[in-house]
Amino acid sequence: MFADVQPSETKADLLRNRKGVIISGGPCSVYEAGSPDIDPGLLKNGPPVLGICYGHQLIAQHLGGTVQKGERGEYGIAQLELTADDSLWKNIAPSQQIWMSHRDSVAQPPPGFAVIASTETSGIAAMSDPKRRIYGLQFHPEVVHTPAGKDILSNFLFGICAAKRDWDVSQRVPLIEEQIRRTVGDRSVFFFVSGGVDSTVAYTLCLCALGPERVYGMYVDTGLMRLGETEFVQTIFERLGAAHFRVEHADMEFLTELAGLHEPEQKRRAIGEQFVKVQERILQSGHFLDGHWILGQGTIYPDTIESGGTAKADLIKTHHNRVAGIQALIDSNRIIEPLASFYKDEVREIGREIGVPQEFLERHPFPGPGLAIRCLCSPHDAPLVDSADGWVLPVRSVGVQGDSRSYRHVLAIEAPPTAGMIRKEAPALANRRRDINRVVALAGAQSPLRSMKLFEAYLTRERLDLLRDADAIVRRFAAKTGIEQSVWQFPVVLLPVGTTSARESVVLRPIHSIDGMTAEAVLIEPAQLERLTNELLQIPGICAIFYDVTNKPPGTIEWE
Ligand code: XMP
Repeated sequence: MFADVQPSETKADLLRNRKGVIISGGPCSVYEAGSPDIDPGLLKNGPPVLGICYGHQLIAQHLGGTVQKGERGEYGIAQLELTADDSLWKNIAPSQQIWMSHRDSVAQPPPGFAVIASTETSGIAAMSDPKRRIYGLQFHPEVVHTPAGKDILSNFLFGICAAKRDWDVSQRVPLIEEQIRRTVGDRSVFFFVSGGVDSTVAYTLCLCALGPERVYGMYVDTGLMRLGETEFVQTIFERLGAAHFRVEHADMEFLTELAGLHEPEQKRRAIGEQFVKVQERILQSGHFLDGHWILGQGTIYPDTIESGGTAKADLIKTHHNRVAGIQALIDSNRIIEPLASFYKDEVREIGREIGVPQEFLERHPFPGPGLAIRCLCSPHDAPLVDSADGWVLPVRSVGVQGDSRSYRHVLAIEAPPTAGMIRKEAPALANRRRDINRVVALAGAQSPLRSMKLFEAYLTRERLDLLRDADAIVRRFAAKTGIEQSVWQFPVVLLPVGTTSARESVVLRPIHSIDGMTAEAVLIEPAQLERLTNELLQIPGICAIFYDVTNKPPGTIEWE
């Protein structure tokens, strides 16, 4: 069985031959003007339908039930009690944990529907009309917090819809290529590529589908990338068979815009706005806005379902999407997003199948604004402040505390990192002290902390080069020791903290994470850390090597 994602308003006739249709959840209320709707024909003699959350409410509304507006809603784990037999419940225990996340709820099921499960707060947690083969679930079977969710979905798909488990992933790539050829027609595709996995795989799919002559790629070198990055990306695209791949060198422009800024959000905004300007210029001067071109993007499924979830990544993407020229292309349907219905792991699999090199697919995530947000700046000189818990570094870094962003100082403990610091000390300090959100240990230094201070500093080519050198040393070390494979990400940060003869410090930030939303600081074996620290301290101008022992929360992975 092959499944795909279609807009909710898709005409019922186009879905008539499907084995089954699932109407997903969503954040709207069915009563809001302009909220997503379905073609009512979908619920008349069509294939089986399962509505989840908002989909469940839409079904109730369309078929004559009532939906009740909720003020506070119900969020989190609840206990589901099955109240009637149903094909959906085959081999499902009569009572079990499920995940609820909704404001509105169904107050009255439509005529012909039976209530088949409830929770303490939701009388109608599930309903069904087996004759018409229409089902509704208020809870979310698709999340891990509903342990039987997959079984319930299987009962729908393989029981009620009689779908077969015969989907062969090898059909996937030819299908995507076919879709690309249909959408593009006789036009050519233009991509802004970032050197990241998604845009590279999307670009390569277009290369495979259309041939190298009709696919054009542009990479903007912001000057904020790691050592050798532009050359690496160029080599990869050559190996992939790109015939029209160009690098736009825009480092001077970016540095000029960033000069004199120190506040993280200002830096991010300046980079976003500059990117927009460069994109506009390229689109105009290359005539990519005329009818011959269609714009390719590496948008993946989570980008389309998450709005605001990964706020910073989204911010960058919003900036890119806001380019007037790109908006015009979107408005006139001249856009192709071959990966829009895939998750990250599927994107990697597809990449592997079409020959994108493994070393490329396994790269650590790297933030759009690049080294700019790892190179901290300061508008003034300031002393380090002695306290009973350690030295307060007067630089500030970003954190997440409660549900909101914090921007606070950093506490430095004058001792090498330990597991106890990560597990106990750092969380306790961040909870107790209102002035900090991050704790670092001292892996090594040329001078004691009491002789150091914070220097006034901004983003300059020299400082970026220094960070690039330190980062390159850490990457070589991580590759050689295998640490690269065991961590999720390993940011390296530059702080203008030191002495007059060596004014900068390096922070090591290796972390484990699943999705970047939370993270744990990771320890490096002491002898290895000592070797790395000594090598970094050889770089002229570097005074100290700090080690970030803060989890996320309360610190973020990146410092800005
Ligand atoms: P934080 O620092 O919020 O980072 O804990 C979580 C993950 O997101 C990455 N990150 C970004 N990615 N553009 C991106 O594409 C950005 O502006 C950005 N900021 C942070 C970060 O590297 C980590 O993987």
